[in-house]
Amino acid sequence: MLVCSCFAVTDRTLRGVIESGACDTDEVGEVCAAGTGCGGCLEEIEELLGDHCRVRPVVQSG
Ligand code: FES
Repeated sequence: MLVCSCFAVTDRTLRGVIESGACDTDEVGEVCAAGTGCGGCLEEIEELLGDHCRVRPVVQSG
């Protein structure tokens, strides 16, 4: 399934990128350019990241 139409990046490619260690949309963009164009696919990339990479910013003060 095509996720990023700007750069023709599929969910399969994205899963590979995430499996190889990308943990946020910036890192995904650095590896495969997905999300660095119009940004319309960022939400979907985030969903894939959420599935796979459960590192979410937890802000704790104090
Ligand atoms: S669809 Fe991915 S950057 Fe435009």
